[in-house]
Amino acid sequence: MDNLTIAIAKGRIEKDIYRRLEALNMEKWIDRDSRKLIFTDEENHITYIHVKPSDVVTYVEKGVADLGIVGKDTILENENESEVYELYDLGFGKCKFSVAGMKGKKDKYLTSENLKVATKYPVIAKNFFKSRGQKIDIIKLNGSVELGPIVGLSDVIVDLVETGNTIKANGLEVYEDLFDISARIIANRVSYKFNYDKIQKIIDLFDSTVKASD
Ligand code: PRP
Ligand code: MG
Repeated sequence: MDNLTIAIAKGRIEKDIYRRLEALNMEKWIDRDSRKLIFTDEENHITYIHVKPSDVVTYVEKGVADLGIVGKDTILENENESEVYELYDLGFGKCKFSVAGMKGKKDKYLTSENLKVATKYPVIAKNFFKSRGQKIDIIKLNGSVELGPIVGLSDVIVDLVETGNTIKANGLEVYEDLFDISARIIANRVSYKFNYDKIQKIIDLFDSTVKASD
C-alpha cells in the first residue's frame, strides 16, 4: 500500500499538530528529539515530512506531499495558493492579521498618503491596501517587524497578532484588523482525486480530535 505523505509546517503551529497526533496515538511514529526530517507511520501508512511553513505549499503543489498542514497566513502569502485545495480548518493556531503603529498615532495612518508598511507578508499587505485603493510602499522584513515604526523605518506594520504582547511591549497599538487565521489542511489537486478515501479518513481523524477538545 502506498503511503500518503503529509508535510508538516515547522514552527508556530507545530506543537498543536503534535498534540492532535498524540490524541490519535499517531505521534509515536515521530521522534521529535531527532534531527530527522522524515518519519513513517507504518500502521496508518503515512509519511511525515517536516518543512519550513512557506515550503509546505510548494511540496503539496508539486505533488511530493499529498497533504500539508500549515497556517492560513502562509497559504495566502504563497503565489501558488490557488494551485492547492484547502480542505479543512483545524481550528488551532488562531491569530489575526492587523495593521499596527505607534500608540496614539492612528490619525496620521488614516490620512497619510504613500504609507510605508513594514511586513513579512508583502502579498497580503499589498492586497489589503490595494482593495481599498490606498497607495503604499512595502518594506519587506524577515522578522521583528514591530521595530519598523519605532526606528522610523516604516509608518505601520502588517503582521500577525496572537496575544498582543509583542505589540504592547514595544509601545505599538493595533490600528485595524484585516482577518482571522488558523491552521489548515491543504491537498494536492490530483492526489485529492485519486486518494479521496484515504485523505478523507485522515480529515475524519483530525476532525475527531477537534470535537474531542471542544
Ligand atoms: C510573531 C508575529 C508577532 C508575534 C505575535 O512573531 O510576527 O510579532 O509573533 O504574537 P503575540 O501577539 O502573541 O505577541 P515571531 O515571534 O514569530 O517572530 P518574528 O516576527 O521575529 O519571526
Ligand atoms: Mg514577530
